[in-house]
Amino acid sequence: MSDPAADGDSHRIYAPDADHNFPDEKLNAVLEYVDDDEEIQTYLEAQNVNAVDRMQYNDHGKKHIEIVRNRALCLYDLLKASDVDFNGARQQGLAEEDESVIIALAATLHDVGHVVHRDEHVYYSIPLAADVLDRILEEFYDLSEIVRVKGEVLHAILCHHTAETPLTTEAGIIRVADALDMESGRSRIPYEHGGRGINTLSSQAIKRVSLHEGETSPVLVEIAMTNAAGVYQVDNLLKAKLRGSGLEDEIRIVAVNTNENHEQLVERIEL
Ligand SMILES: [Fe+2]
Ligand SMILES: [Fe+2]
Repeated sequence: MSDPAADGDSHRIYAPDADHNFPDEKLNAVLEYVDDDEEIQTYLEAQNVNAVDRMQYNDHGKKHIEIVRNRALCLYDLLKASDVDFNGARQQGLAEEDESVIIALAATLHDVGHVVHRDEHVYYSIPLAADVLDRILEEFYDLSEIVRVKGEVLHAILCHHTAETPLTTEAGIIRVADALDMESGRSRIPYEHGGRGINTLSSQAIKRVSLHEGETSPVLVEIAMTNAAGVYQVDNLLKAKLRGSGLEDEIRIVAVNTNENHEQLVERIEL
């Protein structure tokens, strides 16, 4: 769907068959199930009607979910490479293989509340996701595991909203990954259609977001932008979500300013 050539080394797309720094068998089985599930796939289409058709927000549907889920799982893989602790599954007595399942399900279902209303959607996502989770977790877990996985997924869904504080690493990832969907024209910040304000300008400025192993931190988020207005997106969206995520020390953000041809490096600044 997106730039496969460069995806291997820039940690943008989760590839089920690749080698990972975590046990991925259960995750891959859950992903296969979810991607074939009619109810979930319908939610992902239906949640865009209020957001896009009725409120003129940008995409919060399938494409957004695909991007957030891929970024979340790539973030997770990079953090696992640095032995970062995932307390969500651990404190519930769940297995290591459940960490990525929690992250993938939370990423998939975090915005379903949009079918009720865009405003306060995070609070509507909770009961809707709970019903879906009750049904699909049965395929993979026994009753006590269902309760615990469900609780962790719902916690992560709730805390993608800036007003809530993530208490687990899994939830912190969802919050940050939600903000990584910010490439050109996909701003999470509502912008004036056809306007020339800072939201519009800055939303067009970000050309590419990629994740890398950092030298001084587990993850380096590199944001390529064509002009400095993109910094506004990073400050108001990504940094706002990173703050309070619990991952502030693990994730560094660097902006790379590119020229009109998007090739020549003009400047590189830490944000
Ligand atoms: Fe949301
Ligand atoms: Fe979202």
